[in-house]
Amino acid sequence: MSKILVTSALPYANGDIHIGHLVEYIQSDIFVRFLKSVGEDAVYMCASDTHGTPIEINARKQGISPEEMVARFNDAHFRDFSGFQINFDRFYTTHSDETRIHAENIFNKLKEKDLIEVKDVDQFYCDHDQRFLPDRFVRGICPRCNALDQYGDSCEKCGATYEPLDIKEPRCSICSNTPVVKTSRHYFVILEKCRPVIEEWVKQKEHLADDVRSWLEKNFLSGELRPWDISRDAPYFGFRIPGEENKYFYVWMDAPVGYIGTTQKFCDENKLDFSSYWDQNSDSVIYHIIGKDITYFHTLFWPAMLNYGGYRMPSRVHIHGFLTVNGEKMSKSRGTSVKAKTYLEHLDPQYLRFYYASKLGPTMDDIDLNLEEFRLRVNAELINKITNLASRSMGIINKKLDSVTGIPDEGCREIVADALSRVENIKNYYRSFEFSKAVREICIIAENANRYLQDTEPFRYTVSDPEKARSIITSALGLLKGIAILLGPVIPVFKMKVEKMLGASRVWDFSDLDFMLESGIKLGEFERLAERVEEDKVNAIIAQTATEAALQAAPTVELPPLREEITYDDFAKLDLRAGKIIEAEEVKGAGKLLRLTVDIGIGKRNVFAGIKAHFNPADLIGKTVIVCANLAPRKMKFGVSEAMVLACEDPEGHLGLLIPTFGDKTFHPGSQVS
Ligand code: MSP
Ligand code: ZN
Repeated sequence: MSKILVTSALPYANGDIHIGHLVEYIQSDIFVRFLKSVGEDAVYMCASDTHGTPIEINARKQGISPEEMVARFNDAHFRDFSGFQINFDRFYTTHSDETRIHAENIFNKLKEKDLIEVKDVDQFYCDHDQRFLPDRFVRGICPRCNALDQYGDSCEKCGATYEPLDIKEPRCSICSNTPVVKTSRHYFVILEKCRPVIEEWVKQKEHLADDVRSWLEKNFLSGELRPWDISRDAPYFGFRIPGEENKYFYVWMDAPVGYIGTTQKFCDENKLDFSSYWDQNSDSVIYHIIGKDITYFHTLFWPAMLNYGGYRMPSRVHIHGFLTVNGEKMSKSRGTSVKAKTYLEHLDPQYLRFYYASKLGPTMDDIDLNLEEFRLRVNAELINKITNLASRSMGIINKKLDSVTGIPDEGCREIVADALSRVENIKNYYRSFEFSKAVREICIIAENANRYLQDTEPFRYTVSDPEKARSIITSALGLLKGIAILLGPVIPVFKMKVEKMLGASRVWDFSDLDFMLESGIKLGEFERLAERVEEDKVNAIIAQTATEAALQAAPTVELPPLREEITYDDFAKLDLRAGKIIEAEEVKGAGKLLRLTVDIGIGKRNVFAGIKAHFNPADLIGKTVIVCANLAPRKMKFGVSEAMVLACEDPEGHLGLLIPTFGDKTFHPGSQVS
């Protein structure tokens, strides 16, 4: 039998696991549990992704070593995953000898095969922080649309991607100073030389879904494959490049090698044959399950590195979409970026497992967690259909029939036959990541079982014809057994409880799918399998998340001291009003000023504001802000300023205007602040 290796992407040891990540880990866990329950020799490997600039900088900020920080997150992640019943065969770390040795091996093989070149690169360097700045650590003005405060490599406003040195007015995002340009030697993988291998791998139908293949062909394979920079200068947390003092492998060079390193560790610990997984000539089946944001690392670089390194290439890269909550991107402040840990404090993890399974399909489409639908669906299906099947049947047989099973009821035959006829489909759905379809089929079986109980009314016979009642209940519980086995990959603890309740003498798997209980079996006591999801629990999770976000320690900065106390009468002298900006323009010859016309309801005011460095005039037009309307006019070189626009500035020099709102609306010009 071929060995099967399943991996999920390795989570960065740089932050908490949230319900978005869980889309991936729950999905992978369901897949592996399914494979195991049909008797496949499958293992599930994962690890912390530990390297890179953000981790190094965060550890420094917290005053601990990067090793310490990644160890803490490794623990926390493992705990979160266990809490969600995610069952790795090994959860390791990329900061390990195993991963280093395999990464160096791949690097050396690429070098031997002349697939690596060394080139000088001009890059932003911050003299203050004494480091080269990755693109994500440079902020500036978009060279295409002039949007302010954009990343060093791409603009969120217009979507442009650009060469890092093209950004205007660059600033270091760590210290806000202007970086300089400095040259450094870098190692590149010459991907164009790897093209035949990559194209051949991408072409194979079984490796990728069709939409992924065409995306790669259109966006990458149709043009030149640009050389891939795999080196970074110190300071960096990572593996030193062999033969170099101050250069490290870029995190994406060693991160996927963590899949191999973790397998190595697992095999060493369990005396298993490592080569049966990763040897180029083995017949193992390797599945990588990842989110769509990291597609090209896994489908272009990775197959090439594996091939030239002498390892087995992936059999399939399964790519899923992103989680949205109530149709929107997860947000900390709205409380929808829920941490795994927070969820677990309030609700059973199986609800989320069940809900995700009921939404997951084989494509890269995003999946939406609608909180209302979550509650209603779990209650309608998991509780009303499935759990109630158990409570109704067990109630009768425990109380009235000595908890002993009887001969299955003839009248249930057709329902059992129907259930059996669905098993093959359900297996295929699990195998092809069509979990929503698998869940739907299982729910149909549960509906039929409930209808059967309703129609046969066994409670009516417990005295007049107890054997008839016993037969009906035995059949209903046989269906429950099948449902529990089929849902086992999704809600494993639920299945365990059913096993115990139904007196199973061993763990059931898909070979036990007969939808029958033998007669004469002594059943256990009824145990509640799941509770209803209450709205206040869901609300508590959202509220706690929003509070945590609000409390998140503001950066320690030096703030100006409090001004002298004033009386209410002093304050009341200010006439602060909502004002709508109707004109905004630069002032020739005035470095910092913008000229605004502000409608304050009772008239228009000409305002000179020292905010040019922070705003494009066009973006301000139409905004409603707060102005001090009774400030004495001031004559300036360029004209008279008749009011003052209120702004807030932090010690790092970020500046924003005060924009009053209620709900998603703003105030009528002239509305007064009091
Ligand atoms: N460390 C890299 C992966 C290296 S693999 C060799 C990484 N880590 S991550 O922590 O940012 O993300 C881990 C996985 O979670 C990725 O596959 C990512 O796509 C997935 N998700 C992160 N946020 C997600 C959502 N909001 N929704 C669905 N999946 C998401 O990337
Ligand atoms: Zn800096």
